[in-house]
Amino acid sequence: MHTLWTCWKEMLEVSPLLAAFSLGLALVVLLLFLKYFNWWFVVWSELVLRTIYKLLMGDSKEQRILRYVLQHAVAGDPQSVLETIDTYCSQKEWAMHVGPKKGQIMDTVVQELCPSMLLELGAYCGYSAVRMARLLPPGARLLTLELNPDYAAITQQMLEFAGLQDKVTVVTGASQDIIPQLKKKYDVDTLDMVFLDHWKDRYLPDTLLLEECGLLRKGTVLLADNVITPGAPNFLAHVRGSGRFECTHFSSYMEYTQVVDGLEKAVYMGPGSPEQP
Ligand SMILES: C[S@@+](CC[C@H](N)C(=O)[O-])C[C@H]1O[C@@H](n2cnc3c(N)ncnc32)[C@H](O)[C@@H]1O
Repeated sequence: MHTLWTCWKEMLEVSPLLAAFSLGLALVVLLLFLKYFNWWFVVWSELVLRTIYKLLMGDSKEQRILRYVLQHAVAGDPQSVLETIDTYCSQKEWAMHVGPKKGQIMDTVVQELCPSMLLELGAYCGYSAVRMARLLPPGARLLTLELNPDYAAITQQMLEFAGLQDKVTVVTGASQDIIPQLKKKYDVDTLDMVFLDHWKDRYLPDTLLLEECGLLRKGTVLLADNVITPGAPNFLAHVRGSGRFECTHFSSYMEYTQVVDGLEKAVYMGPGSPEQP
């Protein structure tokens, strides 16, 4: 630090312009670091910690999350399961659950709507499934679709530990394959709510597929996570511009960071609504 300071003072004597430029550059670097500082926990967790743990312990982050819950949460208590996952992911390893801040917005949407038939696209470790299922009225059903069989198995164990297995069916497979089977194979008439939280490039095609398969009715609520970070611009343009949805944006923060993100609530108005200019 001292050497840097001496160096800069010498530079000031020789070339004040260069000294001013280097100071400006240092300030810009500092500002950029502060702006993107929130990403360091994510990058550190995903690139560094994940690799080290994998080499040393041979298990996956998702298995570690489940183990931590089984050891620290109260069985049969969904709130304790959520809080334990949040503690692990804010203090030890970042993970892509919806998290507590956006989770509270989800809670409000679910509580207001009181859905009987709910579909989730993207279960991961079951955090959001536990979050929604704990608020469902008796007799209501949540179907959660997960592409990765390892994650689907963890979700199933998470739900069983939380005591919510009777309300939730975990289906392993790709949304684009399962959605066309929902009516016949899974006895779904229409959906009251869909939580979209799988890969972001699937939001728009799956919304169109849900409509094409007759699974949306007037009033069905789509709630989409991460529409700002990493973002789902095609989906947002469609629901906001097609005239078939009434949209509300809920600004929030990406899970376990201070990075701005948001949830989009899009209420289906029916197929007849005119195209907006
Ligand atoms: C952001 S995570 C879901 C987080 C979860 N909703 C939560 O908040 O706890 C996204 C998940 O979607 C799954 N996924 C991605 N594309 C999918 C698809 N086409 N069908 C089903 N699952 C998918 C991924 O395997 C991943 O586990």
